[in-house]
Amino acid sequence: MVKIAILGSGKGSNCRAILESIRGGKLRAEAVVVISDVLDAPILEIAREFGAPNAWLPPGQFRTRFEPRIEAQLVDMLSDAGAEFIVLAGFMRVLKAPMLAAFPRRIVNIHPSLLPKYPGLEAWQQALAAGERITGVTVHYVDELIDHGDIIAQREVPVLDGDTPESLHARIQEVEHVLYPDALSQIFSRLQKF
Ligand code: GRF
Repeated sequence: MVKIAILGSGKGSNCRAILESIRGGKLRAEAVVVISDVLDAPILEIAREFGAPNAWLPPGQFRTRFEPRIEAQLVDMLSDAGAEFIVLAGFMRVLKAPMLAAFPRRIVNIHPSLLPKYPGLEAWQQALAAGERITGVTVHYVDELIDHGDIIAQREVPVLDGDTPESLHARIQEVEHVLYPDALSQIFSRLQKF
C-alpha cells in the first residue's frame, strides 16, 4: 500500500476522484495527508469528508512558488505524515529543489492538455483559442519546469462545435477523474515490484 499525499489549491475534484478510488478498492494506496496552500480551499473540506488527515500550509510572500524555508517546512510535513509519493491535483505553486530532492521521481501532476502543447494556465482555453479539434489530459512526473517532465499517461478529449471554455473544461475534467486514478494505479503496481 503506497502512502500518498495529495497537494491542491482549489476545487479538489481530482482529489475526490482519487479518494473515491481508494475507498472503492480500485487504487491500492493510503492518503496520509492532504495539504493546501489556500486556507479555505474546497480540497481540504473534501479531505475531511473522507476522513483523510489534512493541513493548511501558510504560503508566505510569493504567489507561484514557496520561499525555500516554507518548502522545507512542506518536506517536513510530508515526511512526518509518512508520505512516500506526492500527487499534485490543482496545486498552483511550482516546486523547487527541496521537494524535488526529497521525493525524486515520486511527484506527479495532472494537466488539462496534451503536453507538450499548452502548458500553463487555462490550457483548455488555449486549445480552444488555437482552433484545436482534439485536446486532452496528461499525467506527468514533476520537474523544475512548469507542466514539464516525463509523460506517464495521456488521453484525448474532442473539442466539439459550439464548445465554450466551460463546456470543454467540464469534458476534460471528466476524463481527468478516470485517468488520474488509473495512472496512479499503474505507477504503484510498478513501484511495488521493486
Ligand atoms: C485540473 O484541471 C488539473 O488538470 C489542473 O488543475 C485542475 C484542478 O482541478 N492541474 P481540481 O481542483 O482537481 O478540481
